[in-house]
Amino acid sequence: MRVLLIGGGGREHAIAWSITKGGGVDELIAIPGNPGIGSLPNARCVRLPEGTSLRSPEGLTALADLAESESIDLTVVGPEDPLVAGIANKFASRGLRLFGPRSNPAKLEGSKRFAKELMLDQGVPTAASGSFEGAEAAGDAKAYLRSLKGPWVVKADGLAAGKGVVVTTEIAEAERWVDECLVESRFGSAGSAVLIEEYLDGPELSLLCLTDGREILPLPPARDHKRLLDDDEGPNTGGMGAYSPVPTVSDALIDQVLDTIVEPVISGISKSGDDFCGVLYTGLVLTEEGPKVLEFNVRFGDPEAQAVLPRLDSDLVEIMLACTEGRLGQVRAAWKQESCVTVVAAASGYPDSPRKGDVISGLDAAGARPGTYVFHAGTDHAEAARGDGDGSSAEIVTAGGRVLAVSALGDDLGQARDGAYEALSEIGFDGIQFRSDIARSAALEEESR
Ligand code: AMP
Ligand code: GLY
Repeated sequence: MRVLLIGGGGREHAIAWSITKGGGVDELIAIPGNPGIGSLPNARCVRLPEGTSLRSPEGLTALADLAESESIDLTVVGPEDPLVAGIANKFASRGLRLFGPRSNPAKLEGSKRFAKELMLDQGVPTAASGSFEGAEAAGDAKAYLRSLKGPWVVKADGLAAGKGVVVTTEIAEAERWVDECLVESRFGSAGSAVLIEEYLDGPELSLLCLTDGREILPLPPARDHKRLLDDDEGPNTGGMGAYSPVPTVSDALIDQVLDTIVEPVISGISKSGDDFCGVLYTGLVLTEEGPKVLEFNVRFGDPEAQAVLPRLDSDLVEIMLACTEGRLGQVRAAWKQESCVTVVAAASGYPDSPRKGDVISGLDAAGARPGTYVFHAGTDHAEAARGDGDGSSAEIVTAGGRVLAVSALGDDLGQARDGAYEALSEIGFDGIQFRSDIARSAALEEESR
């Protein structure tokens, strides 16, 4: 079995680890991968020529060419960009097997308006909203904002690398965001339309489901911590940590989400043409009126994957293959009883302007701790980062905003939390930032039961 993995973050390291740990994969090629992925058994990282965009038709063709020339049996896509750009369509047209939805189902993430319309059609509970397109709609958008009580939520319609959403208690800031999207084109075409949403109050939940378009296999629920600082202060980020399971979430609640949200969405997508094959990530708010959808993603969450995949006791490749062959109903997934906590270590300056090139120490010591996984996210070999070597040097430096995701298993969330923070205490780099409260209130909640 030869697997191609697209992506190079912490999520992709967790996927790569999960794919290779069973020993059934002869070779895993990651594009671009990262030093953590490169150190896995039978894994190799390949970089496409500088400047090749994974959103462009040329980029997708280059990936399909590589899958063919390397005799790849299964391609797994980590990030959303290539999915929204149609990598699954391209691979299907060349007879190449790929785990991930085609471009039409991928619009669930690629266009917030598309997702909203599908939810309305299918009667799926979500925030009330208004949608506005073009500079001439800015006045109407602001009038709509003023008709809502705060906090105010404004979202660029398209993909904006997680930066297109503002949630604010200042209406002037929300109005400013409208102008930045519609009038000043801050996010280019991704922001030429905006969605203004009712604010949903309550704890968030991430429910990731694998699906072949008919059968749905829910993964254990997880919770992400989106804000940079402890106690949910500071700016929104890609995610500063996650944990699984979530003690306050019952099986009955998961069933309710599957019945009222995931199943209607998957079947609504099938009606529109292409079955959804891959991961559907539902971001929810557990409001007093019940669970409501915040967003859909069409890929594994980051850092949710790093907190969920260490708990998987079955072969991920087998499950993904079953999805691509429409036989998910024939496979079962077993999960460890243990809990998992993931703490992200981010670079100095994250999220606005992360600094690169800081030398990271303690990786081996942290990774050697039992039940602990140090997933690389934004790292590079020092020489490769300087552009003057073959990338084989042992020195690892920071090379992105979220640098590492340190996960640990434990008998309960408290133990898993201790494991993750003890491992993290071995690691150092200049300007390291991490939250000290990942899974803290959930662990206390669990203890008090
Ligand atoms: P998104 O990119 O849609 O995931 O939004 C980023 C974050 O903004 C979410 O994880 C929430 O924390 C917050 N958010 C988005 N939409 C809403 C909403 N309607 N009500 C409350 N918070 C929201
Ligand atoms: N953790 C949020 C995301 O993956 O979009």
